[in-house]
Amino acid sequence: MSAVVLGGVLVAATLAACGGEGSRNSGGGAAAGKDDGKIVMGFSQVGAESGWRTANTKSVQDSAREAGIELKFSDAQQKQENQIKAIRTFISQKVDIIAFSPVVESGWDTVLKEAKDAGIPVILTDRAVDSPDKTLYKTFIGSDFVVEGTKAGEWVKKEFASAAGPVNMVELQGNTGAAPAIDRKEGFASVLGSDPKFKMLASQPGDFTRVKGKEVMEAFLRANKDIDLLYAHNDDMGLGAIEAIEAAGKKPGVDIKIVTVDAVKDGMQALADGKINFIVECSPLLGPQLMELAKKVVAGETVPERVLTEETTFTQEQAKAALPDRKY
Ligand code: AHR
Repeated sequence: MSAVVLGGVLVAATLAACGGEGSRNSGGGAAAGKDDGKIVMGFSQVGAESGWRTANTKSVQDSAREAGIELKFSDAQQKQENQIKAIRTFISQKVDIIAFSPVVESGWDTVLKEAKDAGIPVILTDRAVDSPDKTLYKTFIGSDFVVEGTKAGEWVKKEFASAAGPVNMVELQGNTGAAPAIDRKEGFASVLGSDPKFKMLASQPGDFTRVKGKEVMEAFLRANKDIDLLYAHNDDMGLGAIEAIEAAGKKPGVDIKIVTVDAVKDGMQALADGKINFIVECSPLLGPQLMELAKKVVAGETVPERVLTEETTFTQEQAKAALPDRKY
């Protein structure tokens, strides 16, 4: 099933129960704003760094409206300190529930503990935190980024199966410390890292943005004459890199093969045009499931501790077929 159909999100695996505490009816500490039946959600978004993020923000805002949930939305502009500030503001406003997509994995325990002590339940969306204390949040909804990296690596392995090697690769990572940057790198390396035929010449953060993707790719091209493959952790960095490759007089998708993650419209167009060779999908349409989960958590119902997004991959031919219906 394509993530376009999403729903497209599967309630997965671990059905360990969370919930109850912090709910509207549980007398959840200092939280639980006005008891007027309306749920107020504080949502701290990473920023607006990519087409994926824009689609994710729209999905969250539209779904909140449709679900009758009042959304207090805050854009952290890719800064953890802004997210911590926003979460503290939500706590002082006594919202019913907090949801956020953590810009980096580490450093959340203190503020999450503050939310817990205030009786306000937290849902992680899109990205995970590395806290060992799983009681600090109710559930985590989002993709398996390691699997995404693995899918990219498997495509590369097949694509270069008959090449003698070495296959010279460069990698554009997401922002340092972000779950998708760490996990996509790990998944890719798990497939190719131990194969001497595949050589990673350079791997640097491009912060998930087009501008930085272009800038870092320019540096890669200056330092390395023979690049066979670019692995970009998202479409936007891949699209920036395409500009750098063309400016260097090379043909993206031909002289340098490109694999990216996300499958947003611009990425899919570049794939259909032959400038990208393969895209691993990461769906941003998390809003409907987030609102469903929020209602259950606030009502004190049991929710799964992990809700996994179902995703596919796209070849150039598949992108051509999918593009007319692509919503984001
Ligand atoms: O966390 C999801 C990632 O964040 C997307 O792949 C990327 O485009 C975004 O900025």
